[in-house]
Parts: sequence; structure tokens; C-alpha cells
Amino acid sequence: MAKISLKPYNDYCPQTLFLYGTYDENGNPDFGLFCWFSYIWDGEMGVMCCIGGDKPTKQNIKRNKIFSANLVTEELLPIADYMGCTSGKNPDKMKVDLDIGKGAVLDVPVLNNSPVNFELEVTDFIEKHDGTIMLCKMRNVLQDESLSSDETEEQKLKRIAPVKTTCKHYFSFEGKDLGSWGEPMKSL
Ligand SMILES: Cc1cc2nc3c(=O)[nH]c(=O)nc-3n(C[C@H](O)[C@H](O)[C@H](O)COP(=O)(O)O)c2cc1C
Repeated sequence: MAKISLKPYNDYCPQTLFLYGTYDENGNPDFGLFCWFSYIWDGEMGVMCCIGGDKPTKQNIKRNKIFSANLVTEELLPIADYMGCTSGKNPDKMKVDLDIGKGAVLDVPVLNNSPVNFELEVTDFIEKHDGTIMLCKMRNVLQDESLSSDETEEQKLKRIAPVKTTCKHYFSFEGKDLGSWGEPMKSL
């Protein structure tokens, strides 16, 4: 396989998308869209993630040390795209129709229409020049009870339809192009 060398980038490496739910200092929920998210092992499964720059989501997590990560599905994609392309510094960002609940263990806002919600507590903040890396304990996982059915894993994944992203585009679980960043929100 012939190769070309590139500057640091991650095209063609699809990432799973999550909406992070936090409360601001007045107890109002905020959601942002994130893909720099993966898993770690330390006696039990945990999460590592990175937030770049200065964002309300980061400020809220630094203050409260807890947040939710809600799996993004095709049904949620328009609102997820909006949450990723609209800064929480815009006071109107959260004036949208969203079914928001609460975590079962942690005081975090969760999206009731997402089939998997992680309730996360940050144990370590690693501050770099322009990004903050966070290591988290999974204090609880809320999972749609229908995922305990007798269907195959393939059938369940097809049904919940998680969205992936790479090359500044969204892709379905089966690889269909669902539009570039900023497109799905236009259907709202
Ligand atoms: C597809 C997509 C993925 C994103 N992933 C990340 C990420 O992993 N880390 C990050 O710092 N920002 C990421 N962003 C940007 C944030 O979603 C964006 O800054 C958003 O405004 C954050 O919400 P907030 O302003 O309410 O905190 C992503 C945006 C998009 C469209």
C-alpha cells in the first residue's frame, strides 16, 4: 500500500458522537456535541475525553466535576448538529424542544431520547496549552430497556442507528453520508 504523509489529522477514522449534558451556575441545562471520547481501564471501565478551547460545557464540567454523555442517533442528529454548531455562550441556544431528564445516580441532565446515557464523574483534569483532557468514572449507565431484547446485536444497532463522524461529515452506522457538519440542523 503506497502512503502519503500528512500533518496531524484523523480523516477516515470514524468517531462515535455524544451530546454532553451539564448544568450551568444557575442550574440550567446545556448540551454540546463531542467526538473526542473513548474508554479506559482502571479496574473497571472508565472514559477519557478532551475539550478544546473555552466552552460553557468545559466551564460547567470544571465547576461541577460531573456530566452526562448521551449517544447520538440518527433521530437526534439534527438537534445534535445544532448543539455542536451553536455556542452555549448564545443565551438562546437551549430555547429548543428537547426531552431532558435527570441522571439516576448523578445530578446531571440526560437526553431521554438517547438510548445510552453515561453518568460521568471526572477524577482527573489534565490541562494542556489549549485543551483539557478528562479522565472519568462511569457512575451509572442508563440504557434503553429494549436493548435487552432477543434481537441480534446487529439488529439492535440498526434499530438505534448511532451516528459516526469523520471528514467533517456525519455517517450512518451502515456508512451512508448523512450530511456535512452544519447541514442536518437545517431541518429543524
Ligand atoms: C461533529 C462535532 C464534533 C465535535 N466534537 C468536539 C470535541 O470532541 N471536543 C471539543 O472541544 N469540541 C467539539 N465540538 C465543538 C462543540 O460541540 C461546540 O464548541 C459546542 O458549541 C459546545 O457546546 P457549548 O458551547 O454549549 O459548550 C464538536 C462539534 C461538532 C459539530
